[in-house]
Amino acid sequence: MSTKSPKTYSIKNYGCQMNVYDGERMAELFDAQGMIAADDKNDADIVVLNTCHIREKAAEKVYSEIGRLGKTSRAEGGPMIAVAGCVAQAEGSEISRRAPTVDIVVGPQAYHNLPQMIADVTQGKRAVDLDLPGLDKFSQLPPKRKTGASAFLTVQEGCDKFCTYCVVPYTRGAEVSRSWSALLDEAKALVDSGAKEITLLGQNVNAWSGEDDKGQMQGLDGLIRALDRIDGVRRIRYMTSHPNDMTDGLIAAHGDVEKLMPFLHLPVQAGSDRILKAMNRSHSRDSYLRILDRVRTVRPDVALSGDFIVGFPGESDADFEDTMSLVRAVGYAQAFSFKYSPRPGTPAADMADQIPTSVMDDRLQQLQAQLMADQTAFNTQTEGKICEVLLERPGKLPGQLIGKSPWLQSVHVLAPGLTIGDIVTVTMSESGPLSLKGDPIMRAAA
Ligand code: SAH
Ligand code: SF4
Ligand code: F3S
Repeated sequence: MSTKSPKTYSIKNYGCQMNVYDGERMAELFDAQGMIAADDKNDADIVVLNTCHIREKAAEKVYSEIGRLGKTSRAEGGPMIAVAGCVAQAEGSEISRRAPTVDIVVGPQAYHNLPQMIADVTQGKRAVDLDLPGLDKFSQLPPKRKTGASAFLTVQEGCDKFCTYCVVPYTRGAEVSRSWSALLDEAKALVDSGAKEITLLGQNVNAWSGEDDKGQMQGLDGLIRALDRIDGVRRIRYMTSHPNDMTDGLIAAHGDVEKLMPFLHLPVQAGSDRILKAMNRSHSRDSYLRILDRVRTVRPDVALSGDFIVGFPGESDADFEDTMSLVRAVGYAQAFSFKYSPRPGTPAADMADQIPTSVMDDRLQQLQAQLMADQTAFNTQTEGKICEVLLERPGKLPGQLIGKSPWLQSVHVLAPGLTIGDIVTVTMSESGPLSLKGDPIMRAAA
């Protein structure tokens, strides 16, 4: 049986920034095949669900979306359905068993093969590709060109850390770094297409390493310094980092690379050494706090961000209090916090003493109240400061644009005449928990 080849596509991303980046690469791949993005995503000939497996809820969302899409079979004009990303990698052909309307299952390292897989489906086959070949996809994808004012650039993928709760080492594979030259070429292409800010991405971005053009081994700080030398790059960020890979060089870069924004997302997960050990985090509460101190010494205005898990198996009230005291000691500018979710195949899922949901709910509520208070306080402290804002998207009001401060706060700027991609100097005012207002002072050179 042969089926019509799709002409229009829609890609729906779940999960982390790397999925956003992968979604952009898939779109460029489809564009290169002559396909076009569907005006109305309910009308696309192929729908790609670019999925996340990190917590149970994230994975379950996918099945409800497949259920919704699959109501119309393809014989009746429904879309071809592709499941990509980390659920695809983790569940593989189990997906097609559970959801027979799915035509394609493609893992995060294999999506460069989508055109061939689509061709197979039009021949009446179901297509599954879960290879984890490391860096193959990057050499086979069309060069990255499309970008907004702020661009993502994946420099490193995969994880060798094996925290006992986490699926990422299984869904993204081993740590691999893209080459120096590929990254600088991509950064330059992004700048040529209008990017002002580049956020380097990796599951463990600070584990990036590679040889530079002189054959010298470099770490992420070397790459950041090379990006700093590209004229059109105005701002550099990176995420997500692991405390163990915060090298001396990277900490120093926070002090002397002006384009490196004063923001560090450094997940700690928990404040109790006993729990950190059970999580296999391989850093302690103190070693984590020492890193933050060192970054603050070289860059006193750095805004700190983190990830937290409450209710890891065996977490006592005293352990949780250690997390709360760490949070109070740090004073995060923003943070993500989650209830522990047991993931199939991870060691923690089989640990004794799983914590009841009601206890997790309580702890999460306490933690989030503290984090939100700290975030609000941080925003309040920024009031009156003069800083640059990179305008990234339209706001709700006429003439309003929304951008980011150096500290990654959302800033609303009312300034007719300015456009997306402009960097504007503002005085910060009217802070709230989630954003501030920026009153333009002068227009910096774009
Ligand atoms: N590579 C990054 C981020 C990994 S996933 C890092 O190492 O920090 C993003 C966040 O999801 C993690 O930092 C962690 O806080 C959370 N997370 C991962 N697995 C989880 C699980 N099983 N249950 C709840 N939260 C989890
Ligand atoms: Fe997951 Fe830990 Fe690796 Fe982060 S460092 S991706 S939390 S295993
Ligand atoms: Fe989710 Fe995979 Fe990212 S599990 S958080 S999409 S690496």
